[in-house]
Amino acid sequence: MRQISRRARRIPPSATLRILQLSKQLRREGHDIISLSVGEPDFRTPEPIVEAAKKALDEGYTHYVSSRGMPELRDEIAGKMKEENKLDVRAENILVTIAKHGIFMSSEAILQHGDEVIVPDPGWVSYTPISIFTGARHVPLLAREEDGFEPSIEHLTEIVNGKTKMLVLNTPSNPTGAVYHMKTLKAIADLSEDYDFYVLSDEIYEKLVYGRKHISIASIGNMHERTITLNGFSKAYAMTGWRIGWITAPRHIIDTLDKIQQQTITCVPPFVQMAALTALRECSSHVESMRKEFNKRRVAAMGRVGEMMVLDAYTPKGAFYIFARYHADINSFDLAEHLIREYGVAVTPGGAFGPGGEGYIRISYANSMKNIMEGLKRIEKGISSL
Ligand SMILES: Cc1ncc(COP(=O)(O)O)c(C=O)c1O
Repeated sequence: MRQISRRARRIPPSATLRILQLSKQLRREGHDIISLSVGEPDFRTPEPIVEAAKKALDEGYTHYVSSRGMPELRDEIAGKMKEENKLDVRAENILVTIAKHGIFMSSEAILQHGDEVIVPDPGWVSYTPISIFTGARHVPLLAREEDGFEPSIEHLTEIVNGKTKMLVLNTPSNPTGAVYHMKTLKAIADLSEDYDFYVLSDEIYEKLVYGRKHISIASIGNMHERTITLNGFSKAYAMTGWRIGWITAPRHIIDTLDKIQQQTITCVPPFVQMAALTALRECSSHVESMRKEFNKRRVAAMGRVGEMMVLDAYTPKGAFYIFARYHADINSFDLAEHLIREYGVAVTPGGAFGPGGEGYIRISYANSMKNIMEGLKRIEKGISSL
């Protein structure tokens, strides 16, 4: 039989989904597994959102709608982006999509063979595989713990060149919990103008910040002309299964993305869009109470990590992860396997986020306080046993 494409063969499976599947399999076999590898809020989707979806289904919002998104939702999002993110945009600058698909479409729209794309290292697991699809070369940008996991501008200056077409930015960051300062964003903005590259700014964790302010790079100078801002409902509103997010970008980019959306997923289901409208209009207090609960867990988990000899961690300023350095002579994939099989605790190996993540594990605190504490105890025992 003839081979599948080289491009598809080069794509690695998702390391985070692998751990999830292994946890499920071990649980089915009767093992007691605590999962600190999850990338989604453990809270239920707020009730008004669920009710809005039910009502929309009853009212017949069950057919194709505009590929760009329903006008009332795009208006609402434009208003939110204007007010909260300081972007001077209108509905024509918004495309309702699935967040991950938005990253895929943006990469397809901008990148091609011969281009270079700069991705954060450590950075979210899907950026590099998505760039492989486009044929562009991905170039990792170091974000070191000693710099609070903000990208090194010195390193960026070394790797940027005439072929650089796009830089992927993710603040607040998965997996590190870094929330970039204005100084870092300004330096990136300056280089983007000098070298004429686009920025894909993934701001999906913007609502989950602790004692820091989230800044959208598109609000700096003329960056709105060259920035594709990605956001979504998954993390802020506990809506991971609903599959909805949006892109804010200059009109000509939105028009291009819309073509790709028309030829791929067509549109986001309308009853999901109606639910998202309710999320934006009515659920800011729900978001705030989830953020407060995450913050309590963050503080407690960091307190516990601080007592351990086997882990060290930068205090995360956003998202719901602790990116912890472990003291043991083992690679992070083997460590994650050891912890889940021998000690019943699932974490994500740091190496899954790029070479810069090796020597770390990502611990998610999107779990109950009881499970977080029990999970940390198991991690401590598991690493000490080596
Ligand atoms: C940094 C980051 N960007 C994008 C996504 C994708 O979001 P969604 O599941 O809403 O497509 C995720 C999900 O884990 C993420 O962590």
